[in-house]
Amino acid sequence: MRLAPIDPQTRMTDTFKALLLEQHPDGPMATLRTLKLDDLPAGDVLLRVHYSGLNYKDGMILQGQGNLVREYPHVPGIDLAGTVLESADPRVRPGEAVVLTGHRVGETHWGGYAERARVQGEWLIPQPASYSARQAMAAGTAGFTAMLAIQALEEHGLQPEAGEVLVTGASGGVGSIAVRLLARLGYTVTAVTGRPENAEYLHQLGAQHIVPRGELAETPPKPMLRERWAGCVDTVGGDMLAHVLAGMNYGSSVAACGLAGGPQLKTTVLPFLLRGINLLGIDSVLCPGERRRAAWERLAELLPGDDLDAITTEIDLEELPHYGEQILAGQIRGRTVVRVDPADAGGS
Ligand SMILES: NC(=O)c1ccc[n+]([C@@H]2O[C@H](COP(=O)([O-])OP(=O)(O)OC[C@H]3O[C@@H](n4cnc5c(N)ncnc54)[C@H](OP(=O)(O)O)[C@@H]3O)[C@@H](O)[C@H]2O)c1
Repeated sequence: MRLAPIDPQTRMTDTFKALLLEQHPDGPMATLRTLKLDDLPAGDVLLRVHYSGLNYKDGMILQGQGNLVREYPHVPGIDLAGTVLESADPRVRPGEAVVLTGHRVGETHWGGYAERARVQGEWLIPQPASYSARQAMAAGTAGFTAMLAIQALEEHGLQPEAGEVLVTGASGGVGSIAVRLLARLGYTVTAVTGRPENAEYLHQLGAQHIVPRGELAETPPKPMLRERWAGCVDTVGGDMLAHVLAGMNYGSSVAACGLAGGPQLKTTVLPFLLRGINLLGIDSVLCPGERRRAAWERLAELLPGDDLDAITTEIDLEELPHYGEQILAGQIRGRTVVRVDPADAGGS
């Protein structure tokens, strides 16, 4: 059933809460504000946002890093899960539970840190039936990216019997979910972490071995080292990625997802020429629709909501500036979801 469109009078007065990022001489500052529906950007679908998430990129945006936001004031939040209130897109119906990750939402378009969002219908996917909105956001960009990375490794021949699969930045969002998914698929997982206190957490997720970050933190002493790993989901980049490339098995692949350790890559072509190593780029933002839906479906099949609950911390919009600093400092474990306008809280 289609909801009656909001009449113009209501539209003028209908208000909602949003975390608004405004430009100041020292950089952007986030403040909780009350906005009107007419303040929202153009789009063919109006959503009530139940939950959002906190990703490394959200931390960068909250701190004004990376030139990701070009226009202020801005509502950040690259992930959202919500209910459709109004839709001019025939593929999306009012009342549907939907998820949005990427498509530069939260960067060039206002995002999920607000009780309402107006977006393009083509950016939405159905919320997986086995997930609540909170669980969908516990998966979020991180879970989707981890799934894309593992699929890319599989498409390049990775199988459980091949040997140890490395996950760098293992206690972070992408890392934690990659460890869990690989373990569920029967792989032998080696987790790299800079936080030894997370060893038990990583073992519980399914990691069999732990490698301290310091062992791989610098560029390798030689272009090629002893062959150790059959595959790698890398969320760190920088010198660690250079080190990992030198220790990959003949013909194996690294899925490069992240830059938590830096964007520069100082390496040689030797691992590629002499060992046939593949460096696979992973992009969750503009990943095409069919691949996106298939990856989300597989993610929901492999990762039950209970597994996500076990790695989730829930925060409010007001707490985002603090948590945004924490994620850039490498201090967040697992996933952080942001309670925005949950379905059980009443309202429209
Ligand atoms: N390609 C894509 O589409 C895509 C999608 C999602 C995320 N990403 C990128 O993937 C990365 C991880 O994202 P996330 O949301 O999972 O962030 P996160 O939760 O902060 O995880 C990053 C993890 O990396 C490790 N780390 C942090 N700083 C480090 C440093 N200086 N050197 C080495 N390791 C460090 C930490 O794990 P330990 O403490 O266990 O070492 C940290 O928990 C980010 O760079 C993000 O931008 C890319």
